[in-house]
Amino acid sequence: MKIARFSRIGFILAAAGSAVGLGNIWKFPYITGEYGGGAFVLVYLMTVIGIGFTIMIAEMLIGYLGRLDGAGSFESLAPRFKAQWRLAGMLGIWAGILIMTFYSVVIGWIFHYIVVTLSSLPASVSEAETTFNHMLSEEIGTQFLFHTVSFLIIASILMRGIKGGIEKLNLVLMPLLIVIMSAMFFYALTLDGFSLAWDFMFKPDWSKLSSDAFVTAVGHAFFTISLGTGAILTYSASLPKKSNLVQSSLIVVALDTGIALLAGLTLFTFLYQYGAEPAKGPGLVFISLPAVFYEMGVLGNVFAILFFIALAFAGLTSAVSLTEPMVQYLVDKFSFKRSTSAILASLFFYLVGIIALLSNTTDYKELLTFGSRNFFDWMDYITAAIMLPLGGLLMALFVGYAMPKTQVYAALKDSLGRGFEFWYFMLRYIAPISLVVVMLNLLGIISF
Ligand code: PHE
Repeated sequence: MKIARFSRIGFILAAAGSAVGLGNIWKFPYITGEYGGGAFVLVYLMTVIGIGFTIMIAEMLIGYLGRLDGAGSFESLAPRFKAQWRLAGMLGIWAGILIMTFYSVVIGWIFHYIVVTLSSLPASVSEAETTFNHMLSEEIGTQFLFHTVSFLIIASILMRGIKGGIEKLNLVLMPLLIVIMSAMFFYALTLDGFSLAWDFMFKPDWSKLSSDAFVTAVGHAFFTISLGTGAILTYSASLPKKSNLVQSSLIVVALDTGIALLAGLTLFTFLYQYGAEPAKGPGLVFISLPAVFYEMGVLGNVFAILFFIALAFAGLTSAVSLTEPMVQYLVDKFSFKRSTSAILASLFFYLVGIIALLSNTTDYKELLTFGSRNFFDWMDYITAAIMLPLGGLLMALFVGYAMPKTQVYAALKDSLGRGFEFWYFMLRYIAPISLVVVMLNLLGIISF
């Protein structure tokens, strides 16, 4: 049982800190670029609002009523098939820690970039590209060093627990992150490139929406609001009594979407304004952006440092939430001390993360590539495209069908009021059907 609970604002910031992460600032802009903009953004937005928000309430509810780790909460709330529902919780716990295997490596790159930008910026995109690719494929030592720093920071925060570690971290970093991202956005607003960025992100060109883009957009919607791993569930187990889950979900989803759009618009404005080739793929913020910052002159130097600091903050607050479900699981299931659990869970992503790191390098690439993807990309794909939507589907089915309606209603009636039936309908029918269609598409059973 938990003793220390979040404060109200602490919970909102921690849940928002979980949601706002590398997904928003690193991944969203580059996949939007990769999949052609507008139509992709629209599918993502529709999924977040229509399905994501609905399931977010359900996920919070499981933690809030279950009061245990992911697996334990499912088990204690399930009227029947307890052992099977426990597995749904386990799926999320594993998804979180598997995401961490590459997430921590990327946070490491960001730390490295903070250090690098302190001294100089690349004078052109090609120079930036060479630098990034060199780091990625040759500099094993550098990546290893910063992945280790990332591991140490995350483990030491988690050891301090919900109140002293996670809440404190978010209370400081989240407001700073919002200030930095807003300042850059307001600057972008004054540039001509802004209208091009706006068109790129919001004028849908449906011909660009391949079925792969569709699946990626749905998967990303889950990833970005932290759905399906039990991160939000685990935090919700430490909610103060009488919390308004609907309001909290709304704030978290709104903040996350707001920051993703803000980051996307800012980055694309800069890219259009300074004519940098939007480098496709994960290198976008590490290649195109530094070259653009160089073009901006002195202001660019300041922006570059602030940007990578904001990115590091976003990454760290999400990383603790990705690892916490495993930490809490170890505490609840094996009665380990929190510090022991924090170290064990972190060690797992640290060690497996080394494999992810090596799989991008020239020396080990071949060894660590399986089929079409290397280990790093597989971790990303399996978690974001498969495990999270599946985890979300199981949460929807659990609250929609397995839990007694009376219990769900009792917990939500004050906050949802007459909207309850609508939400319940979305949860029981629209969300699961949409997710099953997406999964069948992913498996190649149907295509559109
Ligand atoms: N939402 C985080 C991001 O956008 C990642 C995350 C996924 C965190 C799932 C927790 C659970 O980067």
